[in-house]
Amino acid sequence: MAPSWVVLKFGGTSVSTPERWATIADLVHRRIGEGLRPLVVCSALSGVSDRLEALLASAVADMGGGHEEPLAAIEERHLELGAGLGVAAAELLRSDFEELSRLALAASLLREAGPALKARVLAFGELLSTRLGAAFLESRGIATAWHDARTSLVAREEPPAPSPRAYLSATCDFERDEALIAHLGETPARAVITQGFIARNREGQTVLLGRGGSDTSAAYFAARLGAARCEIWTDVPGLFTANPALLPSARLLRALDYDEAQEIASMGAKVLHPRSIPPLRRHGIPLHVLSTDRPDAPGTVISAVGAAGGPQVKAISSRGGITLVSMDTVGMWQEVGFLARAFTVFAKHGLSIDSVSTSETNVTVSLDPGANLLDEPVISRLLADLALFCEPRVIAPTASLSLVGRGIRAILHELGPVMEAFEEFKVHLLTQSASDLNLTFMVDEEQSERLIRQLHGLLFARKGESALFGPTWSELSGGVAEEAPVYPHTWWHARRSELLELAAGQGPVYAYDAATLRSAAESLRALDAVARVFYSVKANCHPGVLRVLHDAGIGFECVSAAELDHVLALFPELDAARLLFTPNFAPREEYRRGFESGARVTVDNVHPLREWPEVFRGREVFLRLDPGRGRGHHAHVRTAGAQSKFGLAPEQMAEARALLDACGARVVGLHAHAGSGIRTPEAWSEVALFLAEAAERFPGVRVLDLGGGLGVPEQPEQSPLDLDALGEQLRQFQAANPRFELWLEPGRFLVATAGVLLARVTQVKHKGEVIYIGLETGMNSLIRPALYGAYHPLVNLSRLGEPATWIAHVVGPICETGDILGRSRRLPPTAEGDVILIANAGAYGRVMSSRYNLREPAGEALLS
Ligand code: LLP
Repeated sequence: MAPSWVVLKFGGTSVSTPERWATIADLVHRRIGEGLRPLVVCSALSGVSDRLEALLASAVADMGGGHEEPLAAIEERHLELGAGLGVAAAELLRSDFEELSRLALAASLLREAGPALKARVLAFGELLSTRLGAAFLESRGIATAWHDARTSLVAREEPPAPSPRAYLSATCDFERDEALIAHLGETPARAVITQGFIARNREGQTVLLGRGGSDTSAAYFAARLGAARCEIWTDVPGLFTANPALLPSARLLRALDYDEAQEIASMGAKVLHPRSIPPLRRHGIPLHVLSTDRPDAPGTVISAVGAAGGPQVKAISSRGGITLVSMDTVGMWQEVGFLARAFTVFAKHGLSIDSVSTSETNVTVSLDPGANLLDEPVISRLLADLALFCEPRVIAPTASLSLVGRGIRAILHELGPVMEAFEEFKVHLLTQSASDLNLTFMVDEEQSERLIRQLHGLLFARKGESALFGPTWSELSGGVAEEAPVYPHTWWHARRSELLELAAGQGPVYAYDAATLRSAAESLRALDAVARVFYSVKANCHPGVLRVLHDAGIGFECVSAAELDHVLALFPELDAARLLFTPNFAPREEYRRGFESGARVTVDNVHPLREWPEVFRGREVFLRLDPGRGRGHHAHVRTAGAQSKFGLAPEQMAEARALLDACGARVVGLHAHAGSGIRTPEAWSEVALFLAEAAERFPGVRVLDLGGGLGVPEQPEQSPLDLDALGEQLRQFQAANPRFELWLEPGRFLVATAGVLLARVTQVKHKGEVIYIGLETGMNSLIRPALYGAYHPLVNLSRLGEPATWIAHVVGPICETGDILGRSRRLPPTAEGDVILIANAGAYGRVMSSRYNLREPAGEALLS
């Protein structure tokens, strides 16, 4: 009897180095030794498909010549690998290179590359890699036949006539193919090598199978050959309970059934393309996902049976870049045809809807970025059409988080504790699949990583190895289960012993680092388009902190008479030009006090001008405007729009102007503040443009105060605000609008990372599955986690660097359920008396504290 086929597919990184090819040869040998006949399916060398696309683009852009350099680079790459493999690559690949060059020249002369040509050009990635591979396997003593995949994979006919999709993302039949079995069965070679990603259409033209197409090719070949199994070799050793790149504690899933695997792949896992499952399911061929990095690791086996066991959540998958459209309507309840009308509009704009949720007054849908072209013009046209019959709003970017596993609906009651993770997060949309394989939540994209960590901790942290769960990623990669980011480059890491001493002697205490304050001040003073920087005193009013910033040349923005007095008591000689007063709904006397102090006074309502004209008579004032668009880390800190109590709306400007004229006051500056904790650099140039436009009405305006709000990363993986980009945008604005001076008034940016809160552990509690670590202070010292769900990194300073094997909630001693400083945090086993450090606590920490429960909040110390 002829030996059974086994299909082995190797992705881009697996075919890019001689070392990996040695592994491939070894695997092929082993399969032959097992009495199987290997068919090897290869991708292009990593990065080559992109380079081929770029080659076409430069050919089209530059008539007659632009392709030469990129072509030479592609040739070079293959010749280099050929040399490493010890095969005569130049000779082997010559005719392919020549044809590729002819095609590129054609594109260049025609100045266009349609989908048919693109498919032909991109196919060279796989043609070249398999030619090298065949020669290498031969050189290792494996008689190998090179097979052109296009002779056996034929694309399905696609009515109507050829679309780009038909060339670039074709699908093929996957029936057993006796002719192919006979043909390949007759070759004397022990192994066959062929290309992933490519096929032909009925006219014999080359077509591609779309992104991830090599997995699909492998599945097609396995199905057509009736293979004993299909092996997908990647750089990740299988499917995991979550993305292991994000969560090293994610566990390998040893066995899944086809549906579960397809669901995990469709919901975001990148290891496997979902299109590869149906051909294998149809013929009951098991699929093994394995890693060329660790050829002996067990991998995931996907088959009709999966792992035994009842319903349970097996993985968390996530996809980012998803746009939601929310449609509010008061009149929808029991209205016939609202959904039909709405869906027609989406269809008209060529948008496919992924999921839908409805209520009496709102319908929210999600649009899949993979299936839709979602650029700004498309979205605005869509919104304009929807606005004819409802109030549409875009929520983006969001991410989907799916809990995947068979029979989820049957175990909702077990998910109770897991659902608590959502307490801090806004869920925009919730869906469950009709197949009962997933429960999906749409959340703000910036929140998704944090949520995945929390959910994963709650769902899987306590699961040991079993028939279903294998080792964790960190165990597989030989590392420790060290997930808590160790922050080696922070000031507090360097001053650890000093801080431990401080906490031991003083109890709960905020510690501030003067050098960090200074360097934050310097980085803002270095923005040359910004004439003045005022520190927003509300963020932290510790006298030592104010002194450091004062000495660094920063001014002060105060929001109450008490803040003004505090600053002036510390710096009696302060030049009044360094004082700004920006109150909101303050009483009449405070405006008086503001003018008396010599500060610049900002007005953000017409009430004071109308009711207390005498206070403003003959004064110079700033007007605070509502920038219309709010930004920031939480709804509570976004300060724009009708729902925000700050700033004058555009329609109030004329009245304000008349009242100011009436009392002889002059507007010399305009102010706007969009919100707090913003890390997108364009926020401030947008405010500048907005204010410059408003200044048309106020010819006396010389200063534009762009507010504060400069954010710092809250979570370790967040990127910092790009100050260079911010500076460059303001420079451009300044160059175009030289008549204005630009001011900034940040709070958080200057002080957040300079402060930490230190507190000793009082008690540890193991309650069911949950560990609580109790501290001597909590929300009475730091209310941000309770109030905004803010994330502050937490470390056990007494045990820095010890393996973080606990997942615990870190809580305070206050009698409120919300008194939690961090949920599901990875920490080393912790004991009474250990000092926990709560990082990034320099801003809005002590200033927002209270004596709730008559517990004094943490004290403060400046470390010079
Ligand atoms: N200017 C105005 C007019 C403000 O209202 C604020 C802050 C700032 C400047 C300074 O914003 P910063 O640069 O610090 O983001 N307690 C919240 C933040 C509230 C911000 C209030 N206004 C938190 O802990 O995140």
